[in-house]
Amino acid sequence: MNPVDLARPEIRALQPYASARSLGDSAGVLLNANENPWPPEGDDGLQLNRYPDPQPAELKERLAEVYGVEPAQLLITRGSDEGIDLLVRVFCRAGQDRVLVCPPCFGMYALSAKVQNAEVVEVPLIEDKDDWYLDTAAIEQAPPCRLYFLCSPNNPTGNLIEAGTVLELARRVADHGLVMIDEAYIEFCDRPSLAEWVGSQPNLVVLRTLSKACALAGCRIGAVIADPSVVDLLRRIIAPYPLPTPSVMAALAALQPDALARQHQQRQRLAQLKAKLVAELSEHAAIQALWPGRANFVLVRVADAPGLVADALANGIRLRDQSAQPTLPGCVRITIGSEEEMQPFLSFLREWQP
Ligand SMILES: Cc1ncc(COP(=O)(O)O)c(C=O)c1O
Repeated sequence: MNPVDLARPEIRALQPYASARSLGDSAGVLLNANENPWPPEGDDGLQLNRYPDPQPAELKERLAEVYGVEPAQLLITRGSDEGIDLLVRVFCRAGQDRVLVCPPCFGMYALSAKVQNAEVVEVPLIEDKDDWYLDTAAIEQAPPCRLYFLCSPNNPTGNLIEAGTVLELARRVADHGLVMIDEAYIEFCDRPSLAEWVGSQPNLVVLRTLSKACALAGCRIGAVIADPSVVDLLRRIIAPYPLPTPSVMAALAALQPDALARQHQQRQRLAQLKAKLVAELSEHAAIQALWPGRANFVLVRVADAPGLVADALANGIRLRDQSAQPTLPGCVRITIGSEEEMQPFLSFLREWQP
């Protein structure tokens, strides 16, 4: 099935808004966008008085190169949050279509679905002492969904999903749904991205972000990698000028080879800091379960998760209480910070008693 046929009919029929810069044409005398002709104070050559290119070609080409895909397979978004929202709005008819999520997982999948009034089908991950697993048998028995949201490494459990499992699901549901694999944390593990499969599996969608490994959470730059026909549909409903010029410039700088090499070194440092944290946590009497996972965070279970979070906060350290999630009683997620950030946390941890 062509994934376009799975989109909402009104989106397929939509004539997208043609903004003044939508053709990427910003040469000559610009009297077509009601802009101020003078750059603002401190503009520094950015030309912030001008609307930005909706999909800057240079950034698109660079991202495509880094991710190993064609530029036509890629839509640059305001973080992967926006990619999730666009997918749900393009493919889910309100009150009719379903999305499948595998909790515990990133909350934006279900939130975006609820905003669109799409039913959320939950197939919880299977918890094991050392890891978490996709319940493929239960996914197979679930009612047909328009979007299947998977995440690898998963937030907040850190587990990976095997490429074969994702591709097998994509093949199985191709007549009625798309499989979205969120790779927000892929740089932190040694697994290849599934982006290379998008060309041969048109109902597979990969989400990438510059927020984590590239240290650009404040810039809001992400990418949807999908069949060009899906990219075209998403582009129809994205805001006319989604990408602020300073964010685009910062993204281009972060994707230079020397910057990528520095980020690689940072990840190696984070891996060492994580190993140290994991060693201390596994010796700690109050830690009932520990899932190191494959990303830049760990998940632990304690008797009183809100207590741990409150005690850490009293010491100026913010952790993420996950215990309100039905699948995560007693759980707290801890992000790996710098040496300067981990040192006070480790000191707190050594003293901490529930
Ligand atoms: C799994 C996952 N996907 C997506 C996001 C959102 O990332 P972005 O900053 O690109 O919107 C997050 C943020 O924490 C995440 O954990």
